This record gives sequence, structure tokens and C-alpha cells, in this order.
Amino acid sequence: MIQIQELKKSALKEISAAGSLEELEKAEIKYLGRKGELTLILRSLKDLPVEERKKIGPLAQQLKKELEELFNKKSEELKTKTYNLKPVLDITKPGKKIKIGHLHPLSKIEEEIRNIFLSMNFSVVEGPEIEDEYHNFDALNIPKDHPARDAWNTFWLKLTDYKRQTTNDGRKLLRTHTSPMQIRYMETHNPPFQIIVPGRVFRYEATDASHEINFYQIEGLMVGKDISLANFKFIIEEFFKKFFGREIEFRYRPSYFPFVEPGVEVDIKFKNKWLEIMGAGMVHRKVFESVKYNPYEWQGFAFGMSLERLTMIKYKVDDIRLFYSGDLRFINQF
Ligand code: DAH
Repeated sequence: MIQIQELKKSALKEISAAGSLEELEKAEIKYLGRKGELTLILRSLKDLPVEERKKIGPLAQQLKKELEELFNKKSEELKTKTYNLKPVLDITKPGKKIKIGHLHPLSKIEEEIRNIFLSMNFSVVEGPEIEDEYHNFDALNIPKDHPARDAWNTFWLKLTDYKRQTTNDGRKLLRTHTSPMQIRYMETHNPPFQIIVPGRVFRYEATDASHEINFYQIEGLMVGKDISLANFKFIIEEFFKKFFGREIEFRYRPSYFPFVEPGVEVDIKFKNKWLEIMGAGMVHRKVFESVKYNPYEWQGFAFGMSLERLTMIKYKVDDIRLFYSGDLRFINQF
């Protein structure tokens, strides 16, 4: 009986001291294995006199059951511990997909347009979104009392919005088109040249599927000697072929813009329908006079188109407001 008590003591000690499954297994073999200490005692019971066997037998059996339970319990404990200790980084797991941003569809198309014009030897220039009356209207042959001025619904800036509001160049406004950059560029550069001007413009009007209070335009201007509408047609047809990646049918209609003469509107055929795509024309001599170019020496063509409109046609988008909605379900499709 003393032997059994001693055995129990040391077995309990070893179980609680076991720090790993291997250590625990060793201890289990030591006591409960085929040649384990308790196994040997149980086996030797049959050699004892009946009286002692009756006393010691149940004790030994009881201890066996107890130890088995303890070993099992400890084994579970160690297993969960080992499991939790597993390194957090499992390099065999598939990686998490990292979401990287991408360009807004309008930025993407603008870049495409820039690149096509750059490949045709145009330069890309930009201008201010806050303009003055002179550059936005007067210098472009849109005088104050001219009815054409009504065609642009202008956001005028208040004096408090912009300190230098009344200079010689008139009141300040948010540019209603990119055409004022024609003037700014010609004021500071001599011909010949060819430029495009991508930029944001603003209109004070109600929004609907095809109108926004701000949108983007691409202005074009080419000035040189003997530039004619034929040059314009060539350049613009090359541009659209590259932009849409296929042959396109064009239609030119006479139109009126104060800063060109003659003025035209260009349509392209899309799914058997004519779509108006840009305004253009030969630079008006009044415009050349405002920048002190000699209209007898220089000719040029100018054009203006909406970036949104091109993008909508190319990607079959039916509502301009989607571009400014910030809706990822829309943006992520590009
Ligand atoms: N500025 C015009 C607009 O906003 C578009 C335009 C028409 C630009 C004819 C031009 C042009 O350069 O020649 O409606």
C-alpha cells in the first residue's frame, strides 16, 4: 500500500510537470505502459494472499483509472496549448488580395487623349479655372451685349470670393469653357504651334443625365501659315480613329461660335446614329487681333469637346452624373 501511495505521488508530480506531449507520453509509459510501474503491481496481485489482494486490488485499480483520466486531461491541455502556440504566419495560406486604387475613368480617358495628341506633335497645356471676363468672353469675340454670351451660364465670383476682382480684365468667374486658354497661350507664345488644353469647366445650370455643373473639356488650337479646314479634318479624323480604334464616319455641319469663322460642328456615326461630338472652326480674325497676331499672316483652327461625352460614347455610359457620384460599383468597372 505504501508503494501504491508513493507511486501515486510521483505520478501526479510528473503529470503536472510535463511541459510537452512527449514528456507526458514518457510518464504514461513509465506508469501505465506494458512494463509500467502500476501495471507490474496489478500483475503481481495474483501472487498475494487473498486477504491482501482484496485490500490492495481495488486501490490499484482505482489508481489506474484516476491516472488514465489525468493523463487524458493533461494531454488535451497540452494539445490546445501547442496548437495556440503555432506561428501566426502560415506561409502556405493563399495571400490576402490587396486592393489598390486605379484611375477614375475620366482621368484614364483624358490620359489616352493626351497621348494621342502628343503622338501627333501637339503640346498639352493647362490654364486657370478662375478666369476673368476678358479671357472667357471679350477676347474670344463675345462682347458684353452679344446674345451669344447668354449661351454660357456663368458662375460669377463675388468680390469677397476673389480680391482682385475688378482689374482691366473685368470680373472674375469660373471658366465656362477651355477656350480662354487659346487667348492666354497666344498672348505668351508665337506661332506656329499646336496645343490641346484639357481642363475643368463650370456651368450654372440644372443637372440631368447629360448636364453637370462642372465637367471637362479638351480644347485644341493649331496656328501656322496656310493652315486650313483640311488640316483640321485630317487631324481630327486621325484622332478619332485612334481613340475608338476603328474607322469612323464623320459629318460636318455649319455652325456658329463667335470665336471661329467659319464654324462647324462635327458628328460621328455611332450605331447608325449621328452623334454631335465637337465644335470647331477657323480662328476668327478678331481673336487673332486680341492677341496681336496678324490675321493676314497666320491662320488656325480651334476645336472644343467634352471629355465626359467621349467617355460616355466609348464606354456606353448613359448618365453623366455617374462620373461624379463616387459610387464604387460604377468606378470599379473601369
Ligand atoms: N467653347 C465651346 C463651348 O464650350 C466649344 C468650342 C466650339 C470650342 C468651337 C472651340 C471651337 O475651340 O472652335 O461650347
